[in-house]
Amino acid sequence: MTELEGKVAIVTGGSRGIGQAIAVALAEAGARIAVVSRQAQGAEAAAAQLPGSGHAGFACDVADASAVAATLSRIESDIGDVGILVNNAGITRDNILVRMKDEEFDEVIAANLKGAFNFTRAVTRGMMKRREGAILNISSVVGLTGNAGQVNYAASKAGLLGLTKSVAKELASRGVRCNAIAPGFIRTDMTGELTEAQVETLRSQIPLGTLGEPQDIAGAARFLVGPGARYITGQVLAVDGGMVM
Ligand code: NAI
Repeated sequence: MTELEGKVAIVTGGSRGIGQAIAVALAEAGARIAVVSRQAQGAEAAAAQLPGSGHAGFACDVADASAVAATLSRIESDIGDVGILVNNAGITRDNILVRMKDEEFDEVIAANLKGAFNFTRAVTRGMMKRREGAILNISSVVGLTGNAGQVNYAASKAGLLGLTKSVAKELASRGVRCNAIAPGFIRTDMTGELTEAQVETLRSQIPLGTLGEPQDIAGAARFLVGPGARYITGQVLAVDGGMVM
């Protein structure tokens, strides 16, 4: 028996990139996965490709609180009670501060921070009742260090760390754990637009000398939501080739 057998896990932004790799890793560990992403087609296709059975895809904008509540009801009736939530959905709208538009700031906070709040609040009631749950937020090293050209994104990712620690404190006595991963530079669509020269500069700042792969985040995620991490809550694990120490 694998360690997540019988569990239901929501992975937001699970149709591609890091979220997809996390969905695969949790499915390999025996969980049934609710893949949540903006487009039904992408979510359903990703769910259909996962190992094992009982998975399903759901279209939902995580920034929309009422859509999140409705999606959770569907997940619970279609797949079962949710024991694991991975808040992975995220976007970038990079710009230098003086040129950053209100919409660029607001959209990033809404998807990256409010989205995680929406899903966390929605799953919490059931988890508290069952006195069991694991929540994982995908932040970023940029939330720890800041980054020129990303005040919106860095603020959303730093906000996620405050959310993580507060949820961990509030729900620990109810048997619910909450942790965060701060990925460094991982090869996905989000970093796909970097030029070769930019990648070279980045590599020189990474002690392990290479960009990460989505599977590197997925391995850490599988550990943090599983029984091996039963005594770990409120923590931020940097998975970044040693960038931030
Ligand atoms: P990606 O752009 O390849 O995938 C993002 C996923 O989130 C997509 O499935 C997209 O549909 C979904 N999504 C975005 N906004 C959404 C919304 N409002 N509602 C529902 N779904 C939404 O990105 P990637 O690289 O896989 O990133 C995943 C997470 O990891 C993000 O939170 C990102 O900020 C974070 N991260 C990524 C790093 C990297 O180097 N790729 C580094 C640090 C953090």
